[in-house]
Amino acid sequence: MKFSLSGAGPKGQAVIQRDLASLSPSYTREYALVVDRAQGSEIWDVDGRRYIDFMAGVAVLNVGHRHPAVVTAVQEQVDKFWHICLSDFFYPQAVDLAEKLQSIAPMDNTLIYLANSGTEAVESAIKLAMYKTGRSKFLGFLGAFHGRTLGSLSFTASKAVQRENYKPGVYVHHLPYPNPYRPQLLPSQNAGDAVLDYLEEQIFHSLLEPEDIAGILVEPIQGEGGYVVPAPGFFPRLREICDRYGILLMVDEIQSGVGRTGRWWAIEHEDVEPDIVCFAKGVGSGLPIGGIIARKEHMVWRPGSHGSTFGGNPVAAAAALATLNVIEQEGLIDKAAATGDMIMDSVREMQTRHPSIGDVRGRGLMIGIEFVLDQLTKERAVALRNTIIQDAFEEGLLLIPCGRNAIRMTPALNISPDMVKEGLQIFEKSLTKAEQLHLSRMTAV
Ligand SMILES: Cc1ncc(COP(=O)(O)O)c(C=O)c1O
Repeated sequence: MKFSLSGAGPKGQAVIQRDLASLSPSYTREYALVVDRAQGSEIWDVDGRRYIDFMAGVAVLNVGHRHPAVVTAVQEQVDKFWHICLSDFFYPQAVDLAEKLQSIAPMDNTLIYLANSGTEAVESAIKLAMYKTGRSKFLGFLGAFHGRTLGSLSFTASKAVQRENYKPGVYVHHLPYPNPYRPQLLPSQNAGDAVLDYLEEQIFHSLLEPEDIAGILVEPIQGEGGYVVPAPGFFPRLREICDRYGILLMVDEIQSGVGRTGRWWAIEHEDVEPDIVCFAKGVGSGLPIGGIIARKEHMVWRPGSHGSTFGGNPVAAAAALATLNVIEQEGLIDKAAATGDMIMDSVREMQTRHPSIGDVRGRGLMIGIEFVLDQLTKERAVALRNTIIQDAFEEGLLLIPCGRNAIRMTPALNISPDMVKEGLQIFEKSLTKAEQLHLSRMTAV
């Protein structure tokens, strides 16, 4: 999306001018939001304008901005100590968090490695899979986003610009993601079977020995690639392939994890148990923490083979433990499922009067809405999608894009029904305006 200055007040404009003169041009920016403060699912900008937050800091603030229990945990930890280095010493906050993660893991008998971010979680998973299997080749998926450091970037295949001019270092062969709305292989076949037939009949015969593959890294719902829910049956068959050849099934739950989809982990919808889970984003409520959960039998690396100065920082660990406890104690997993159904029902109902809504999909509060110029050809309505996002921002609703022509709705799991209603009203108003602007190119449903 092209960044526009429109919508920012005078104070916001001044900050943006200084930002552009002092910060890296590699940041993309969605629109001219300059944040002053936030609470729950509301944000105020430096000019005093209020916004409803349907994006939660890019699917991070699962318990909302500044949840009081998280604020207290952070403040109490800051009063005790805030750094010592988990790679070299011990502290209970990291152990408490690790035990909590073990108790909610989607598989039994696990150990936890704590890092600082999503990309580091993925680096850790790559290294552990290499370490455990002694193999160095991997499978990934087109449309995937796994991070921007050189290991994770080897898997990221969401936008070409993210790889432009870089030479990622890990050997990854990318498969099409099993997208039921836009199947990339045989459209008549189940999208999951089509991808896995292609893997077994083509790739394993012509390109790669399956016994050379250390791991398959996959998002249980493809995030940046468009909030794509995989075709049914895909994951059980993928698990079976992994078991047959000793390949580790590594799931990236960085965006989909910690309750967002109506389960602790999105992979739980698929009835399979992974070998490694990558987590970050929602775990720490915005404080930098990430890591991996791995089966004990796989986490066999020796002392010194992996570590980090800041990973599992005590303040971030305290925030993470408080976040997970809030999700559990306030019943936010069920709430995410119910609110998500409510939003998807409402947007599907809008679909009857808005011909540009091609597909509404998701689980819980990980919702994608794909816009098209024509329901039959599914021509991508990129400009229309961008108009909706910019207009909604100017009207007081924060949305962000995903994929080439989709919008994601990822509010906090505890957003109130009134705020959801208010947000959806703004969304439909912006959608109506965008359709009027781009209508001449559209056909009726
Ligand atoms: C699925 C997924 N994996 C990995 C990452 C990278 O996380 P980070 O930006 O914390 O490095 C992201 C970030 O958006 C993500 O959505």
